[in-house]
Amino acid sequence: MIDPSRFEDLLIVRKIKEKIRKWWRIELSFADPTGFVVDHKKGVVIPPHSKLCEASLGCREGFGRCNRSIEKAVRDLADRKETKAVLVDQCHMGLHVIACPVVADDKFHGAIFACGFLGSEAKEARRGLVLENAASEGLQIAQPEEAYGGIPSLSAQDMGYFKDLLETTVEEIVEFSRTIDQKEARIAQLSRELGGRYQFGNIVGKSAAMQRLFAVLEKVVDSESTVLVTGENGTGKELIARALHYNGPRKDKPFVVQNCSALNDNLLESELFGHVKGSFTGATRDKQGLFRVAHGGTFFLDEVGDMSPAMQVKLLRVLQEGTFLPVGGTKPEEVDVRIIAATNRTLKEMVQRREFREDLYYRLNVINVEVPPLRARAEDIPLLCEYFLGHHAEKAGKASKQLAPEILARFFEYGWPGNIRELENEIERLVVLAGDRQLVGVDLLQSGASHVAQLPARDLERYKEKGDLSAAVTALEREMIQQGLVATHWNKTRLAVQLGVSRTTLIKKIKEYGIEDAATAAETGEGGAH
Ligand SMILES: Nc1ncnc2c1ncn2[C@@H]1O[C@H](COP(=O)(O)OP(=O)(O)O)[C@@H](O)[C@H]1O
Ligand SMILES: [Mg+2]
Repeated sequence: MIDPSRFEDLLIVRKIKEKIRKWWRIELSFADPTGFVVDHKKGVVIPPHSKLCEASLGCREGFGRCNRSIEKAVRDLADRKETKAVLVDQCHMGLHVIACPVVADDKFHGAIFACGFLGSEAKEARRGLVLENAASEGLQIAQPEEAYGGIPSLSAQDMGYFKDLLETTVEEIVEFSRTIDQKEARIAQLSRELGGRYQFGNIVGKSAAMQRLFAVLEKVVDSESTVLVTGENGTGKELIARALHYNGPRKDKPFVVQNCSALNDNLLESELFGHVKGSFTGATRDKQGLFRVAHGGTFFLDEVGDMSPAMQVKLLRVLQEGTFLPVGGTKPEEVDVRIIAATNRTLKEMVQRREFREDLYYRLNVINVEVPPLRARAEDIPLLCEYFLGHHAEKAGKASKQLAPEILARFFEYGWPGNIRELENEIERLVVLAGDRQLVGVDLLQSGASHVAQLPARDLERYKEKGDLSAAVTALEREMIQQGLVATHWNKTRLAVQLGVSRTTLIKKIKEYGIEDAATAAETGEGGAH
């Protein structure tokens, strides 16, 4: 895009302008396509080098007439589709106006122009006319004859050079703008290509939050640093750990996962560090711990916030010294593992409550990757839907199905307490229900045990609008219970504590709202819930 207000940014334009001023005392200026003087937009008025023009520009009517002369000259260029410099000849004072159009790709972008001068042969011939005009404008000029003598004049030859210079200047401007346009197009293309990188490994997301997250992952993927991934259930913490491993230098070595909340202390210790034969009843032979298995690779410690204090000490030792002791063993074993830990709990607060060791927290939290919940990045929903639909299509060897727009609209409204995992399950459910139908209709949202359709978020708004308090309270209560059930993986005891009600009350309400069935059905469908 050629911007007349930027012409002077070009060094060559400034230089030519300087020369013209020095040689002929003529001021080169710029006008936009409407003929408006660019300097005036900026609040700058530079009059031509003569007492007459100064006086004319100095009064309001004169300023208006001057501008109209320029405007007419520039518009005439556009109307006549001129491509060269043209001497428009007369301004309101009877002086010359010269203008050269800036045309690129058949488009008129404005003009460079100069005024307030005369050709030497016109200089004598116009004396009477110009002075008359000045007088009729009521200009107060002390010595009109002398002022007239001071008007810059150009010989016919110089006038030719002047035109050439103007045309050269315009060529420079057009050429420069072309280069800029090309560069800008290239930059736009590059940023599209980069922006098109909505993926890191198998993690998709185009939201700013996810793009930032990808940038962090890019930086840490090749390092050996311990990473702590935090975020709600189903936000993709494990996926991130996997992506870091399989895109990093350890990708050919094992990736080992252990969920720290799944086992009691004794079992967890034996899982992680192994045991020697006879160290406890049932230890009939030596068992290799997962830390040994993970040697050279990556160990993903899921739900690390659920680790007991005793186990925290043992983990700390691995992190600090790279050694551990198998259960019943006496010789510390050395390992080289990269640790990626994850938790949906706020470790920092747990540290404050002394539920989590501060030293371990700092060891784990070398790099913190926080995964935002899906509701905080709803703009990722369409991309994720497309991704999961494509996934299913690939598995089934069929064309990818499409979601009815109403479904997407509903998805945007929904709070997704189970995050991406819940969205993934929902898409799977819809795809199955759709059977051979290519378009997944909104009717399918209602069938089966989906929370998405049940959730009364919209109702809540409606009740709020109507001012119906008890209906709104009911809707909110139901929504909180439903979302809480998904978030706690239907752990009613935990949810009751979270909501500050007794377990009995919670169960009663679940029955009342008829959400029990949905919960159980989704739970069985979820598989990996813990
Ligand atoms: N950004 C994402 N892009 C694609 N799939 C995702 C994304 N985030 C999560 N998923 C999928 O959602 C499910 C839950 O992810 P997971 O990593 O197990 O979550 P978390 O460990 O935080 O509970 C997995 O099937 C995972 O592949
Ligand atoms: Mg997980």
